[in-house]
Amino acid sequence: MERWNGRVALVTGASVGIGAAICRQLVKHGMVVVGCARNVKKINEISEEDGVKKSPGRLIPMKCDLSNELEILAMFQAIRQDVGRLDVCINNAGLSHNAPLLSGTTSDWKNMLDVNILALCICTREAVKLMNEKGIDDGHIIHISSMGGHRVAPGMSGNNFYCGTKFMVRAITEGLRREVKEMKSKIRVSSVSPGVVETEFFPRLQKSDPAQGCALYNSMECLQPDDIAGTVVYILGTPPYVEVHDVLVRPQQQAT
Ligand SMILES: NC(=O)c1ccc[n+]([C@@H]2O[C@H](COP(=O)([O-])OP(=O)(O)OC[C@H]3O[C@@H](n4cnc5c(N)ncnc54)[C@H](OP(=O)(O)O)[C@@H]3O)[C@@H](O)[C@H]2O)c1
Repeated sequence: MERWNGRVALVTGASVGIGAAICRQLVKHGMVVVGCARNVKKINEISEEDGVKKSPGRLIPMKCDLSNELEILAMFQAIRQDVGRLDVCINNAGLSHNAPLLSGTTSDWKNMLDVNILALCICTREAVKLMNEKGIDDGHIIHISSMGGHRVAPGMSGNNFYCGTKFMVRAITEGLRREVKEMKSKIRVSSVSPGVVETEFFPRLQKSDPAQGCALYNSMECLQPDDIAGTVVYILGTPPYVEVHDVLVRPQQQAT
């Protein structure tokens, strides 16, 4: 990870869960991390944690609602002006509503498309644009996808549309890799596909009964956000000639 020391990473969905864990690990490795989410207060609190303050890197909180393109573009303008460069873009923010295909609401589906797909694509496009502007040819784009992008889990009908978005992330990851190669760039493209990770994801999904979301976490020894952050560090830390394609990580006790 030495070569990333002092270089700049954007982590979306940095307020809690996997994104917060990625921020903590990257600043420990000396990176300047721009962490964004709607709840910027939580990112500010992370930046004030002892472990983060004593790290060689630093965390810069930015407020951004990723379902709003104008806010995303304003965030990139702030990164361009205030930070001056971008080397790594980690598209982590994502969510599932409990929205089955036969009874879910259109607004819930649109929100998943906005955050899981459009924001990921807009951030990637703007990140590569900024890398090109600054002559950065060894950057890295990492999508946090899901095992749900590899199979539709049985017995989770509320998640079917979400799985559709993550299948799309898988296709987009491959398409992006090809476009980057056509550009003759050395920017790398990777994804991580986690199984069940103990975060706010399932309690938020079951917003009318968050305890039901937590029940899944009590049913097995889940992955922890740090496990996925460690996978991101592994991907970044490989030598520049290595491009990790996708890493599927599931709890040993997860049957599907
Ligand atoms: N947990 C799992 O079991 C699991 C499994 C496979 C894949 N994943 C993927 O891992 C990624 C991270 O999920 P997580 O488990 O860490 O979930 P989480 O704890 O619910 O965190 C989700 C993050 O996304 C941000 N976010 C959601 N909507 C946003 C919006 N409109 N604008 C800006 N930020 C937004 C949230 O920030 P604010 O609410 O503050 O805006 C939060 O920081 C997601 O892409 C998810 O699909 C999770």
